[in-house]
Amino acid sequence: MTTLRSSAWYAGDDRGSYLHRAWMRRGVPGSAFEGRPQIAIANTASDLTPCNAHLNTVSQSVKNGVYEAGGIPLDLPVVSLGETQVRPTAMLWRNMAAMAAEEMFRANPIDGAVLLGGCDKTIPALLMAAASVDMPALVIPGGPMLTGTFRGKALGCGTDVWKLSEDVRAGTLTQEEFRKSESSMIRSAGHCNTMGTASTMALVAEALGMTVPGTAGTPAPDSRLLEESHHAGALAVTMVAAARRPSEVLTPAAFHNAIVALAAIGGSTNAVVHLLALAGRVGVELTLDDFDRIGSSVPLLVDLQPAGRFLMDDLFRAGGLLAVLKEVRDLLDPTAITVTGRTLVSYLDDADTWDREVIRAREEPLIAEAGIAVLSGNLAPQGAVIKPAAASPHLLQHRGRAVVFDSIEDFHARVDDPDLDVDADSVMVLRGCGPKGYPGMPEVANMPLPKKLLAAGVRDVVRVCDGRMSGTAFGTVVLHVAPEAAADGPLSLVRDGDWIELDVPGRSVTLDVPAEELAARAPSEAAAAAYADPSRGWEKLYVDHVQQADQGVDMDFLVGSSGDGVGRDSH
Ligand code: FES
Repeated sequence: MTTLRSSAWYAGDDRGSYLHRAWMRRGVPGSAFEGRPQIAIANTASDLTPCNAHLNTVSQSVKNGVYEAGGIPLDLPVVSLGETQVRPTAMLWRNMAAMAAEEMFRANPIDGAVLLGGCDKTIPALLMAAASVDMPALVIPGGPMLTGTFRGKALGCGTDVWKLSEDVRAGTLTQEEFRKSESSMIRSAGHCNTMGTASTMALVAEALGMTVPGTAGTPAPDSRLLEESHHAGALAVTMVAAARRPSEVLTPAAFHNAIVALAAIGGSTNAVVHLLALAGRVGVELTLDDFDRIGSSVPLLVDLQPAGRFLMDDLFRAGGLLAVLKEVRDLLDPTAITVTGRTLVSYLDDADTWDREVIRAREEPLIAEAGIAVLSGNLAPQGAVIKPAAASPHLLQHRGRAVVFDSIEDFHARVDDPDLDVDADSVMVLRGCGPKGYPGMPEVANMPLPKKLLAAGVRDVVRVCDGRMSGTAFGTVVLHVAPEAAADGPLSLVRDGDWIELDVPGRSVTLDVPAEELAARAPSEAAAAAYADPSRGWEKLYVDHVQQADQGVDMDFLVGSSGDGVGRDSH
């Protein structure tokens, strides 16, 4: 039998082991420290992360499962990030949450971990932490909320906020009605119910093999989530015995499958930065181009908002991720194993689709080639991404004049100015929203359209930004432009009236200004004045060390793994 990591604290009869055991006793029998795997339940429950607030209940089921299998469950509250609440953007804190969890996993007497996440950054942060510690770990996604309805229609969280607010701005919905829709939008416990970042990352975690297959997407209030959590707790104990670590699961094959899944579900562009960062933690050579190479020809099979009609509750009812993956089985890497020790593809035999409206057959996709497209060109030398499935087909090849905003504040101040020189063919450019410039790369790339365009019936124009876009958003948006303006990217050189050409089939985004003229231009001073310049704390560390979007926006000093080695004793 393998020696438990926790035995470095608890085994023996010396003063040190006495201290470690005695302070943990408090009613716990001594047998708890005699060869029983200590399983941390890394819990992101918080009242300020409302999408994860129910995870304390989930944790109780995990505990029951851990006990049943002979382990000892231990609550470990970790940094939690409420996407809608924290400022300036939850993404600024993803790496901090990952670093804090990583260090607490390593510092404590634990042998394995169950990762409870949900809201956008919480699953990526926990995965990054577990990958860098490389101790047996699995994810339990907290699950989406139930579908709410307003005026007889289903509401998609996020997606319908953008739509309803545009209706208010266009004068077709009153402010009062808009306010009324709030509690219909959020009907129950759980994370956003569209194919936003939270849903995407839960399903991607499953495609990576880091959940028990078939569990991601179980709605938060569904009692089956608790049953699954019980079993997952028990599994964590057996994973310790089998020494099944993230490095065994998070292989190139797993990332391949995650990219196929991401395309087939029409997942959020945010998954690109999270997967790149995660790959960096386990030493898998994943590049932006891999998303295009592996995913761009994969059909979109899931008819969920924002690209389609339905919501996560419907996807679960229709068969979930395994039913989707069964349709693209030939595109998956059959060698990738899951936390259970079985391959992901071995679970597909039993998968069924119960609603062909929600999960399309391979021969009848929503979009034949739907994966995220990776663009390059003189406006994005290190790359940019666009989600064709969320874009307007008529804008995928487009040439228009730039209307430039130097910061999100500049955008808000001028977007509805009747004198703004913008029309349906314009290309709206927003800079200063990258990892360093903002800081934290906020989800602002899907700029709302100017009122005068909305009034004229325009619902989409090409937009270009060094920031991110909410996974619940839609539009023809070129995002994650790298390098960002604040890292001296060419985006800092764009001027009002410049021609910009977007060619998604040709995979390019080009600033049509002669190279000599560009070389002679100075970066925008107005943009530079708005860049973040923190003097202390996490923001300072972040701005000094964060990498660009094409590298996953991880900190340069967090790339890689330190392992689960036991530190020197504290006494
Ligand atoms: Fe938490 Fe959308 S705000 S998942």
